[in-house]
Amino acid sequence: MADRTAAQQERLDALLQEKRTFQPSEEFRRQANVSDPSIYDRARRDLEGFWAEEAKRLDWFEPYRRVLEWQAPWAKWFVGGKINAAYNCVDRHAASHRRNKAALIWEGEPGDSRVLTFGMLQREVNRFANVLKSLGVKKGDRVAIYMGMTPELVVAMLACAKIGAPHSIVFGGFSAEALAERINDAAAKVLVTGDGAWRRGNIVPLKKNADAALESTPSIEKVVVLERIGKAANIAMWPGRDLWWHELMDQASDHCAAEPMDSEDMLYILYTSGTTGKPKGVVHTTAGYLLGTAATHFYVFDVKEHDVYWCTADIGWVTGHSYIVYGPLANGTTSLIYEGSPDYPDRGRFWDICDKYGVNILYTAPTAIRTFMRWGTEWPAKHDLSALRVLGTVGEPINPEAWMWYHEHIGRGRCPIVDTWWQTETGMILITPLPGITATKPGSATRPFPGVEAEVLDENGRPVGPGAGGYLCLTKPWPAMFRTIYRDPDRYVRQYWSRYEGKYFTGDGAKVDEDGYFWLLGRVDDVMNVSGHRISTYEVESALVDHPAVAEAAVIGRAHDIKGQAIAAFVTLKDGTAATDALKDELKQHVARKIGALARPDDIFFTAELPKTRSAKIMRRLLRDIAERRVLGDTTTLADPMVVAKLKRQYEETGQAE
Ligand code: WTA
Repeated sequence: MADRTAAQQERLDALLQEKRTFQPSEEFRRQANVSDPSIYDRARRDLEGFWAEEAKRLDWFEPYRRVLEWQAPWAKWFVGGKINAAYNCVDRHAASHRRNKAALIWEGEPGDSRVLTFGMLQREVNRFANVLKSLGVKKGDRVAIYMGMTPELVVAMLACAKIGAPHSIVFGGFSAEALAERINDAAAKVLVTGDGAWRRGNIVPLKKNADAALESTPSIEKVVVLERIGKAANIAMWPGRDLWWHELMDQASDHCAAEPMDSEDMLYILYTSGTTGKPKGVVHTTAGYLLGTAATHFYVFDVKEHDVYWCTADIGWVTGHSYIVYGPLANGTTSLIYEGSPDYPDRGRFWDICDKYGVNILYTAPTAIRTFMRWGTEWPAKHDLSALRVLGTVGEPINPEAWMWYHEHIGRGRCPIVDTWWQTETGMILITPLPGITATKPGSATRPFPGVEAEVLDENGRPVGPGAGGYLCLTKPWPAMFRTIYRDPDRYVRQYWSRYEGKYFTGDGAKVDEDGYFWLLGRVDDVMNVSGHRISTYEVESALVDHPAVAEAAVIGRAHDIKGQAIAAFVTLKDGTAATDALKDELKQHVARKIGALARPDDIFFTAELPKTRSAKIMRRLLRDIAERRVLGDTTTLADPMVVAKLKRQYEETGQAE
């Protein structure tokens, strides 16, 4: 694995030492949704039969003719079927014994809360579907959504699904420019936003950002604005363009028939960072996606009818799409949504929420767990967490220490932990324990989900042996797989399916141990994973060179105890520009303004030159060695090895933070 970083090698070495295993308890196994390991063989022997059986958990308007048509890399699942995602997530439950069951439990950051039953959610979704229709949105039109974590965000997405208008949700932490870029790529017709959102007691200025974005988004005809903050948001409404959510909803009818969608019709677009500067519009379709998320949600989290399930992700990311909204609601599960920050008003907020609502299943990110570890055990210790039954993690590799802390201090030794590996592109969890079957090992995502086939390959496409590192690939199609990159099918083929013929290249490094367990090592491409958020090095570099003082920039993710990776930028300035601390701050600000606070570099280091190969390619690998303070790797391909030696000396002398 030539481009494995030294940090990955360190993780690999450390993981090879990890020998602890945790068996599911007899008590857990007895009540589990699946406790018979033959599910793996059954799915392997008959992939289509396995998914056909699962497809019975959905309601179809018209049956499908074929489970799968697969001509790598093009997949069609449940060919000929007619189905609607919102109908499956809401209407069928509202028409059942679940009518008055909580669909959403929402906790606002300031302490307000709301519960929407399936019946109530149906009414809201229908109304908003009618609002969208009244604004001219038709089947196939894209709707952009830029909102905080409120029930209305879920209502907006399901209303889109109900009328067959693909949504494109942009995380509320993205900047105006990032929003505009995504709106324009999707050519969205309507934008749904809010006057603001609460975050750590502050107002996230959603509408102000949207206003700035809307200066360069010709496709947007109307903007719907949810009032969450009120006067303090201090926003302006553009007559003719901007409309209040509540005013439109007051006029709208409660009834709206679900649009029968083809299985392969687009459900949504979600932009994610790739290895170039331009974000990719990952396209998910209807039936396979809904089924994949519902089935994995049922098996992986062992969810039961009366459970309160809480996934702490933001709906702006794929984890929120699949495991706050589509998977849980398709299963008729009560899904909890929290608007704000884990340390508001104090560091016990998550545990207070678990206690208050009796949360049974908690799904969060390793970066959050490491933060809680640092805050200390006294916070969870103050609360009753006895309702918890299953704990999940997602978003980045979890270190065994964080896994053990989660197990002891949150699960109190009783709860299986499911470390779930997947991606925006995969749509659903692909490598994971099944909590009633799998013995877990701290730091390992364990085994591919039934029907999923994964391999770890070397440079030449040969499987590597146990214990060695390689590239993680998937060799069989799965129902929730993305179907293409929006308006860029070449990129779909080139980036994911060309490295190894007919196999999906994940971009992650991994190893498999003697027991067939997978251990994820992190990205092998130029994608960083900062607090579980995907950011490309190129995006940050483009933002930096956009500043008038910057000549050239090289950005890397360096290992960070809490965030997993922190962003470090090596910057050369234009002649005559003074390298001051004030300029560092300004550059950090500049990146935050261009992309969003999530991309703000942790360190900026000014240098006269960057280490380059003889063909003028910047060697980021060596910059990572410098930022992580280790011995420099191979420098023989450098044009001038002195540059990097000097840079390393300077970096160490000026002593970067941490
Ligand atoms: C990383 C998030 C190790 C991985 C669902 C992947 C993980 C990227 C895990 C996708 C895990 C996600 N263990 N690494 N359990 N889960 N990753 O698209 O590098 O935001 O490629 O999807 O996160 O990030 P994305």
